[in-house]
Amino acid sequence: MQIEEDDQKVLAGEYGETPAKMLEILIALGKVFGAERLIPVRSVQVSGASYKTIGEYGLEWLQGLDAHVVVPTIVNPVGMSRNRYQEMGIDSRFVEKQIEILHAYEKLGASLECTCTPYYLTITDYGDHLAWSESSAVSYANSVIGARTNREGGPSALAAGIIGKTPEYGLHLLENRAPQVAFKVDGLNSAEDTSLYGGLGFLAGKIAGNKIPLFSGIRPQKDSLKALGAAMAATGAVALYHIEGITPDARIFKYTNTELEEFTISREEILALYDNSPVEAVAIGCPHCSPDELIKISEILLQKKVIIPLFIFVAQGIIEKYSSVVRKIEMSGAKVYGDTCMVVSPMMERYKSVMVNSGKALAYIPNMCGALSRLGTLEDCISAACGEK
Ligand code: F3S
Repeated sequence: MQIEEDDQKVLAGEYGETPAKMLEILIALGKVFGAERLIPVRSVQVSGASYKTIGEYGLEWLQGLDAHVVVPTIVNPVGMSRNRYQEMGIDSRFVEKQIEILHAYEKLGASLECTCTPYYLTITDYGDHLAWSESSAVSYANSVIGARTNREGGPSALAAGIIGKTPEYGLHLLENRAPQVAFKVDGLNSAEDTSLYGGLGFLAGKIAGNKIPLFSGIRPQKDSLKALGAAMAATGAVALYHIEGITPDARIFKYTNTELEEFTISREEILALYDNSPVEAVAIGCPHCSPDELIKISEILLQKKVIIPLFIFVAQGIIEKYSSVVRKIEMSGAKVYGDTCMVVSPMMERYKSVMVNSGKALAYIPNMCGALSRLGTLEDCISAACGEK
């Protein structure tokens, strides 16, 4: 693997012990995957920020690092809203530890946006090389934006932030971005509720595993693309997908139907995932809501009152930008929390059943929160929260 002169100095410890160690991580990773060189990245997104997921060992590791990131580095959701953790009922030990984690990231120069949708807040363009680690964000960057990132682990993403580079292998190389399995989808139109695309991703991810899917027969809008990719990254390990005529890299690879193994997923199979049984809480915003989703929620909730807890998760930066929309939503009694989410916050562990409109949350909530998860459309979720069903 070629190591540039500047990087040789980093390795020799001229910039300190932590950068040397971080570069060693990147070189080791590059060697394992056959990278020939390191390439600069435009931005980094680091998962592993909630005390619930990284615990004491993760915190100690972060506190032991003495360096500063050299490219924009955004932190994934943490276990609580930074300004509303008291009303979330987070216990004081967790709060203390979570704040220590945030301080450790701040000291490293990372941006505490605490979101899995960094693409709403940072400029990311087609062809950009990135080192992102939250799986739904990786899928969105590769598939919807046409940027290039592997599904990094938290430490390798942070190493890329500190060095400003990542090893060039996997999805950074065009030849590794070709479709490997095909899905024909029957009966979904472009204006469907995003949860149907989350449901599609939930089913497709189980079949695709870590292969790159090519979809035909659908024309989802942006929020549905987000829902589709997030779910496939949860039930499978899909980091990139293509949709004929929609996603940017799909036009590069020309396939006839016979070249790839093809599966069909129907609307009926997706609808079979839905369950309108009563729940103890409702959670929306996995991945974090877009501004359009927030506006839609505020419109549906107009003049309504929630009678069971309804939580909406979104980047704090979006809450600040759309504060009047957030105020309207909260007039119903719903809570809009930034910095955190239904999966990485301990808050959700107090409920035995949760309705979600996300294929990813449907897959993760049982294991991560110990609750039953039920899939509903956005309207179903709000109706359930308002006692209308
Ligand atoms: Fe984001 Fe949490 Fe879902 S990090 S993708 S809202 S599990």
